[in-house]
Amino acid sequence: MIISSPNDYRAAAERRLPPFLFHYIDGGAYAEHTLKRNIEDLSQISLRQRVLNDMSQLSLETQLFNETLSMPVALSPVGLTGMYARRGEVQAAMAADKKGIPFTMSTVSVCPIEEVAPKINRPMWFQLYVLKDRGFMKNALERAKAAGCSTLVFTVDMPVPGARYRDAHSGMSGKNAAMRRYLQSVMHPQWAWDVGIHGRPHDLGNISTYLGKPTGLEDYIGWLGNNFDPSISWRDLDWIREYWDGPMVIKGILDTEDAKDAVRFGADGIVVSNHGGRQLDGVLSSARALPPIADAVKGQIKILADSGIRNGLDIVRMLALGADVCMIGRVFIYALAAAGGAGVTNLLELLDKEIRVAMTLTGAQSIADINSDCLVKLNN
Ligand code: GLV
Repeated sequence: MIISSPNDYRAAAERRLPPFLFHYIDGGAYAEHTLKRNIEDLSQISLRQRVLNDMSQLSLETQLFNETLSMPVALSPVGLTGMYARRGEVQAAMAADKKGIPFTMSTVSVCPIEEVAPKINRPMWFQLYVLKDRGFMKNALERAKAAGCSTLVFTVDMPVPGARYRDAHSGMSGKNAAMRRYLQSVMHPQWAWDVGIHGRPHDLGNISTYLGKPTGLEDYIGWLGNNFDPSISWRDLDWIREYWDGPMVIKGILDTEDAKDAVRFGADGIVVSNHGGRQLDGVLSSARALPPIADAVKGQIKILADSGIRNGLDIVRMLALGADVCMIGRVFIYALAAAGGAGVTNLLELLDKEIRVAMTLTGAQSIADINSDCLVKLNN
């Protein structure tokens, strides 16, 4: 299959993956309106072309929380990354490391923190949910610190999981799910060989390390359903602060008032995100939520954004709308599923090239130059 653009990886991933895994990553919540809006709203943001400005000296480098990023991108935390390629978290983290950008390890990853951290040079970021089992949270924070993780990404938009109707249809959950997953795996021999056989253990590495017993895919579904804590409030963040003294980023902010509260609380960053359209369907796209949030808190807190980013031009759009750095989830998983760590490396190079072209043609020589002046304001 010919890969010439980031989007090509989606089709390649669909061919390689058993459907239950493809639809788990590709899908969103309920009728998937927000999933679609994320992409459409972003693609409709018009960049303002500027020419003849000597753009021969261009820098994509940016600083965030005392780290240098070679481009304004970090890999989002994605549960079950290790089901998309053999020991997928290790492969993705190594590709991010090679490119000089952060990898964020999900709480519900296949590989445990301790398997990934020694394989990379730059510190990982670690993502945590508020869970009913505070003992697990404390254990995870201590282990993340011991493994040298630099930044905590604290996900707050999942006090309950949104319904993912595709999962029941695809065999990820629902009736006869285990049998359906097995049959799908047999029908996808490349995946079965790479991940099904050689990617074991198929564990939730961080959780089984804590529980002291293996946890499988069935546990994942049950665990997601049973362990999220709807009582989550700003007070829980104080609790976390006792165990985490490094930078803390609150992921899942869509409202200006919540962004201001994050500043008041003393968070170091927010991620403007609707969880890739995987939580409350019908909420605003990140592209639309971001500008008023940036108006309210830019400069007081670092603003990261995800949801709907599919290419390098989208990254420039998000920065122009007010983000300091973007996070990408699905796009890197598609590349990982299609071609392993080499796929992620290639994807990051494609994004780099696309960002460069967009900067050149909008007249932005540095990441700090990317602002609302780079946009034509047609859609507001
Ligand atoms: C977990 O965070 C998911 O979106 O499935």
